[in-house]
Amino acid sequence: MSIDKAFIQTLISRIDLIDLIDGRVPLRKKSNANYFACCPFHSEKSASFSVSQPKQFYYCFGCGAHGNAIDFLMQYDRLSFPEAIEALAKQAGMEIPHESTTRAKPAVSPDLYDALLTVLKYYQTELRQSERAINYLKQRGISGAAARDFCIGFAPAGWDHLQKHVKDPKTLLEAGMLIKKDEGGYYDRFRDRIMFPIHDRRGRVIGFGGRILDKGEPKYLNSPETPVFQKGHELYGLHQVLTAHRELSRAMIVEGYMDVIALAQHGVDYAVATLGTATTAQHIQRLSRHTSHIIFCFDGDTAGRTAAWRALLVALPIMRDDIQIQFMFLPDGEDPDTLIRKEGKVDFEKRIETALPLSTFFFHMMSASADFSSVDGRARFVNACMEHLRQLPEGLFQKMMLDTLAKKARLDKVELSPSKKSEPVKKMRSPAARAPSMVRLAITLLVQNPALALCVTEPSFLSETPGTALLFELIDTIQQHSLPTTGALLEHWRDHADRKWLEKCIKDEHIIPLNDMKSEFLGAINQLKKAANKQQIELLLAKASQNALSLEEKQRLQTLFCEK
Ligand code: UTP
Ligand code: MN
Repeated sequence: MSIDKAFIQTLISRIDLIDLIDGRVPLRKKSNANYFACCPFHSEKSASFSVSQPKQFYYCFGCGAHGNAIDFLMQYDRLSFPEAIEALAKQAGMEIPHESTTRAKPAVSPDLYDALLTVLKYYQTELRQSERAINYLKQRGISGAAARDFCIGFAPAGWDHLQKHVKDPKTLLEAGMLIKKDEGGYYDRFRDRIMFPIHDRRGRVIGFGGRILDKGEPKYLNSPETPVFQKGHELYGLHQVLTAHRELSRAMIVEGYMDVIALAQHGVDYAVATLGTATTAQHIQRLSRHTSHIIFCFDGDTAGRTAAWRALLVALPIMRDDIQIQFMFLPDGEDPDTLIRKEGKVDFEKRIETALPLSTFFFHMMSASADFSSVDGRARFVNACMEHLRQLPEGLFQKMMLDTLAKKARLDKVELSPSKKSEPVKKMRSPAARAPSMVRLAITLLVQNPALALCVTEPSFLSETPGTALLFELIDTIQQHSLPTTGALLEHWRDHADRKWLEKCIKDEHIIPLNDMKSEFLGAINQLKKAANKQQIELLLAKASQNALSLEEKQRLQTLFCEK
């Protein structure tokens, strides 16, 4: 989803961060417009979570959590970026304009959610009236409480029960609950099936899975893709998991509806399932927003191993250093549903402790077909591994995987590099990060007090000093968009490579008193300008000593001397 940047800025300027946070975490006013509370993002006894009214920025001195209004909603309410915007817009009573350049998605009518909720209630009523369906659930060991928690229902046999009940074929069709007949008219998609509603993270019904009671094909029928339901994104049971846990220390990904329900019923209430599709990067990303520890649970057979390997490959590009992924394989012929009933929560969770870390599973699979006895066998092994390890994001984890690879291939002297070139690449730091202290001071003052940009009348000058380009960009952006607060300014840099560095500057403590801020800032800029002049003069003089300068360059040199 692409949302107009200007709109986001207006939105941020309309929201008061103090109000927003205070509604969720009661704040106490300390000094000059700073508020404090015990940090909601880590457990603590003394208040180290600070919120600045003028900066519209929060920062925890304990755990380092920080950001603007959007970040707060993303962290605290666990919303995605677009969802946070949506929530703020609602609060501010503003309508989100969508950029016209992106092809507009079919607008989701709220009716769709309403219709699906009506359908869910209908199926629940039908379940209560069907002895056969109730018996099936009993025979599968599903408790009444679990049936309620997961809103299980029943679609009766017959072709038009749902249509007759809901009487809005257009919406039902769009929601995937009806199928159009060639000769006109519709029929119910789900007939004579146990119905498992699929909720989105917020608890809205977005689709269904239906299981046949006896034998038959297909065993499970799922809602088709609709404007509100994308199989490759949604995880069955996530809503229930998040309702049960405010902090989710770990989550398990299993294969089936019945697995999620049986696990939850037996106390393993942190499992979700993909919906009859292989695990996608979106699945993992979505889950990793709520927990940093993900356990994949697969059958112990070949199909399970293949599915696990596929999931591993999908996970590689998004393996942040703080994410832990494990692979758990069940005994042949068992699935989580059957196993948890046999051995219960304690023994089942013991299996998690012995689950393979991603690194172990990776090298296990890669080694299986490798020949370590010859040099070229080892070289082939290294090459094959590197193909995959290149996918990892740069960081500690990648480095450790490369170290392990080197050891396994007995390459202890050679350094492996993730880049295609054989030379180890130096990590490119952003030019801003190499900024000397004067530039850094100017930037720090500026991001903490964006209004300072308005005092600068003649913003840019030629300078080779790292960080000056960013400084000028900041000044220019603030002037153009009149960004009044730190929170608003940072929003402009959300997807920018320098954002991390700017955040550091925002957190920097400096001892410049409020009154002297302006003169310090202008002083720093003046000094930078002087230094830049000196650089230019030296450059031109060096050139002059080699051969003649052009007329233009001579004039420049003269101006520079005058300014000096
Ligand atoms: P399984 O065939 O392993 O079924 O499919 P299960 O979960 O053990 O189901 P029970 O215990 O027999 O009731 C695993 C998952 O794959 C999807 C479903 O999401 C199912 O939960 N699936 C399976 C389908 O989408 N369609 C099918 O026909 C079969
Ligand atoms: Mn099963």
